[in-house]
Amino acid sequence: MSGTGSRRFPRLLVTGGAGFIGSCFVRDTLARRDGTTIVVLDKLTYAGNRANLAAVEADPEQAARFRFVTGDISDPAVVAPLVADVDAVANFAAESHVDRSILDPEAFLRTDVLGVHVLLEACRAEQERAARGERAAAPRFLQVSTDEVYGSVESGESHEEDRLEPRSPYSAAKAAGELLAHSYFVTFGLDTVVTRGSNTYGPYHHPEKLIPLFITNAIDDQQLPLYGDGMQQRDWLYVADHAGAIGHVLEHGDSGEAYNVSGGNERTNRQVVAELLNMLDKPWSLVRLVADRPGHDRRYAMDGSRLASLGWTNKVSFDDGLATTVGWYRENEAWWRALKAGDWDAYYRRQYGDRLAGSHEAGR
Ligand code: NAD
Ligand code: DAU
Repeated sequence: MSGTGSRRFPRLLVTGGAGFIGSCFVRDTLARRDGTTIVVLDKLTYAGNRANLAAVEADPEQAARFRFVTGDISDPAVVAPLVADVDAVANFAAESHVDRSILDPEAFLRTDVLGVHVLLEACRAEQERAARGERAAAPRFLQVSTDEVYGSVESGESHEEDRLEPRSPYSAAKAAGELLAHSYFVTFGLDTVVTRGSNTYGPYHHPEKLIPLFITNAIDDQQLPLYGDGMQQRDWLYVADHAGAIGHVLEHGDSGEAYNVSGGNERTNRQVVAELLNMLDKPWSLVRLVADRPGHDRRYAMDGSRLASLGWTNKVSFDDGLATTVGWYRENEAWWRALKAGDWDAYYRRQYGDRLAGSHEAGR
């Protein structure tokens, strides 16, 4: 498999572009200064943050190629006119936190399934316009999916043709979203591609997730709630590599295909936390073992050779990426302290209150 060659998409709709990975994609794409224009459609949920795009808006040349629309991907009236004006849609928009999908699953179905449906229907309408000669070609649709759709992988690596066995409301909704996208390729001949990325980390990551939560808690000498025995394994991928891989698949991926985006950095959660504490010069005694996440996937690991055959390689090692990330959180306290205000305390109490009350020392 080598891809059908390179295609450029000069006008992009990036949904969820104010989030962690989407904003990195927007910043890096516009910074190439190759004329690409981007419209971001984002609902600005608790996870969306316009500050993530401040660099773009402060640069006159990039700002001229950028437009921000606040809105919901599940709203056809908002989506249709935006899709009508672009060559491709990259859908990053999602409810993305597994723990929140356990507390409140419904929002995940609305955005991660119905939202994808609305975007696909808008692309299908554009395909019909193209067939009538009202536009050059139908837009390409890229669905940003996740390694979690494979479920927990006890040994070996997941390949793109493996069965999907999602086990959380989040991953089940993401699997539904990408299967829907694929069904539009099969049934309607829409030009779709899917990426399945592994655990991503880096600057601008919401402090609800493991790495930024533990960095920011440790800076404040707060306890670090490690689930279960802390021996779960994740494969860590630096955010700029994830965003770059998505751009590569957009331009080079075969229609109808899915591509694993692996990090090549498998670590237990304990190993990650030890490395973080070492970089921050904070003691292991901050770590508390707490009640496990229900249905917690033990391990994710993917084979990345299909994407490699398209000519993609990651650029950032885990040690360098983690050092950059720790440095960024040290230097950008105002950014994350704003997110740990407002509703944060209520979320933190609900998610961690009882867990921390019943926690015990982690031992090394
Ligand atoms: P994030 O939670 O940081 O950002 C999600 C963005 O989507 C936010 O800006 C939010 O406001 C927006 N959004 C949510 N619902 C919306 C709606 N209905 N309409 C419009 N915008 C909406 O997520 P992230 O970590 O940047 O993840 C981006 C994508 O990558 C998601 O699809 C996620 O499933 C996938 N992914 C994430 C990781 C990871 O480790 N972070 C790994 C693999 C795949
Ligand atoms: O694998 C890709 C996925 O990675 C993405 O699809 C998701 O959007 C993204 O949130 C992430 O999911 P995880 O559940 O793996 O990430 P999280 O940061 O929530 O947790 C990473 C590991 O750390 C996991 O084993 C659970 C554990 N953990 C997490 C938190 C928040 C803890 O031990 N304590 C915590 O407080």
